[in-house]
Amino acid sequence: MSSIRLAFVADIHHGRDNFTKKGSTAMALMAEFRRFVAEARPDAVIDLGDRITDEDTATDLRLEREVAEAFAPIAAPRFHICGNHDRDHLSVADNAGILGQDLGHQTVDLGAWTLVLWRADSRIHRPGGFILPEFDLLWLDAVVRHAGKPLIIASHVPVSGHSQVGNYYFERNADFATYPGGADRVRAVLRGAKVPVVWISGHVHWNTLTQVDGIAHITLQSLTESFTTQPQPAASWGLMELSDQVDWRVFGLDRFEARLATADLARRWTTPLPPFDQHPEIRARLRAAE
Ligand SMILES: [Fe+2]
Repeated sequence: MSSIRLAFVADIHHGRDNFTKKGSTAMALMAEFRRFVAEARPDAVIDLGDRITDEDTATDLRLEREVAEAFAPIAAPRFHICGNHDRDHLSVADNAGILGQDLGHQTVDLGAWTLVLWRADSRIHRPGGFILPEFDLLWLDAVVRHAGKPLIIASHVPVSGHSQVGNYYFERNADFATYPGGADRVRAVLRGAKVPVVWISGHVHWNTLTQVDGIAHITLQSLTESFTTQPQPAASWGLMELSDQVDWRVFGLDRFEARLATADLARRWTTPLPPFDQHPEIRARLRAAE
């Protein structure tokens, strides 16, 4: 089986240096990413969002245009997703106009696999954080329900519920790492998938692999993040090869590799136990032991 190759870049954060984000290095690193893509010749390039560090509407429009120009020479089909920083001062339509593509939900037929661009609302509401609109959940539900071949689903915000311990931004702000009231419902949708599923996100600025219900949830390190590689930016991007296995490699200073058998990603796990003191048989045993 010939493999499908996808290149991913996340959290470019073009703009000023901000906390551990080395935004001033973004354009130079994008030139390196372009060289990588020209050599690797992927079937598609996917930007997982947070292209800029936001300032104000006028500055953000300029920064987004500069990022769009950095992507423009890439010959492979390109798909962009908006992150929260792309939405602080700009609309989806602003971003779509600059990037020259529609930024609604989309499925792309890759042959043996389907690429799903789940462009769910990525604004951070203050207060409230990420709020998952019902339409975004229902759109995904329909795609997963009717899927006839393996799915690679891309989003800005992860939904695995993975631990943020050790994460510079999110250890003490874990509610901002996901959709606090929505991620569990997304996982319930995914649990119904009869096909192999791989989910990939940006936003959390580190490399992770979390398996939930037999589904592989991956997060990709940011292009310009430095909290794991200080003082340099991680210079991360990833290449995923999809065939009867999923081969994931992250390049740069924060290297990461994973290989999974595609068939295994169609297995669904046994539903977890309730708290032990609420399970009738375990309660009975605890009572008998008293
Ligand atoms: Fe983000």
